[in-house]
Amino acid sequence: MKNISFISPFCDLLKALTSTSILDRAKKKEIVNYNFLDLFSFSDDIHRRIDDYPYGGGDGMILQAQPIFSAFESITKISDKPRVVFPTPDGKKLDMELSLDLSEAEDIVFICGHYKGVDQRVRDELVTDEVSIGDYILTGGELPACVITDTIVRLIPGVINNINSAKTDSFYDDLLDHAHYTRPDVFRDLKVPDILLSGNHKEIDKWKLKNRIEKTKIRRLDLYKKYLKNNNKVE
Ligand code: 6GU
Repeated sequence: MKNISFISPFCDLLKALTSTSILDRAKKKEIVNYNFLDLFSFSDDIHRRIDDYPYGGGDGMILQAQPIFSAFESITKISDKPRVVFPTPDGKKLDMELSLDLSEAEDIVFICGHYKGVDQRVRDELVTDEVSIGDYILTGGELPACVITDTIVRLIPGVINNINSAKTDSFYDDLLDHAHYTRPDVFRDLKVPDILLSGNHKEIDKWKLKNRIEKTKIRRLDLYKKYLKNNNKVE
């Protein structure tokens, strides 16, 4: 079973998101276990203080090293080499390759801090992976930790019933996903493409691939070029 631990001052948010839908199903199936470490309860300070002013001045408060180190060291059931993820906008941009890599780790620990707001010694000594979820700023690492957890957990074998479904996802093979339709075949005069109702699976597969290629070319020329290159295709 994979252990995913979260060190955070706001564990409620993490608990809410991991107790819903697929993330909860993975826990019920005993494929993953979530562990929440409330940063305040690891503070040695009598007032349970977890942050302080930055040395050298500047805006904002900095999360102190002590509560984070103590929380980290309290995790006993942990393998030799856990992946310790620090969500931060100056980290490596998350993509499916990184998600797949993380989904193979036995133990993952998220340290949820705030940009500019964590003592550098935590990043230097504990963190193995600094990960960004995109070029925009969020107020804290909790939402990114949930985003990263979601993308990792759904890749673990046994979590999603139909692995083929994951394999045709956008990005799995450098192509965006094709359009999907379900019943009824006519809704307010809007028809489902005939080919999907034909029962001819060879032609249907061709249609799906064509739809994916066209969509990728229009929306994501960068991915489309990667697809051409990786499949030895020229235009
Ligand atoms: Cl990982 N953290 C924060 N605070 N903001 C972000 C981010 C992470 N990725 C994009 N923006």
